[in-house]
Amino acid sequence: MENKKIIVFTCNWNAYHGLQAAGAGRISYDPRTIPIRLTCIGRISTGIILKAFEQGAMGVLLLGCPKDDCQYDSGIRLAEKAVLEAKKILALLGYSEDRLRLDHLEAGEGKAFTEKVNEFVKRLDKLIVYKNNDGKTP
Ligand code: FES
Repeated sequence: MENKKIIVFTCNWNAYHGLQAAGAGRISYDPRTIPIRLTCIGRISTGIILKAFEQGAMGVLLLGCPKDDCQYDSGIRLAEKAVLEAKKILALLGYSEDRLRLDHLEAGEGKAFTEKVNEFVKRLDKLIVYKNNDGKTP
């Protein structure tokens, strides 16, 4: 069952600094967003992503460091693999792969953090409206 929440996993470095900068700058983002901080975005797994959807998340956004700037070197590659696997399973379950995205942030980019979150949420909202008008599975 959908609960209209959007889960935003951030790594503890660039992406989380972006979230902090947004807060310090009082830059708002969609209130349905639930940020969850991971040590590195590479700590995500296909199972955790799918659990978020099982618990009713409308969408899952993963924000990590730029591809060549992960503090643990292989985090982005591991996250890409988990996202790819999760998208395949979501497709089998009839979910749109647009409900899951991996993106990147430079350190301290509060405005970019909010733009990426709000743009993701906006696309999710359109996806849900499309589903309602078209009758297709989300
Ligand atoms: S530490 Fe940021 S993605 Fe790995």
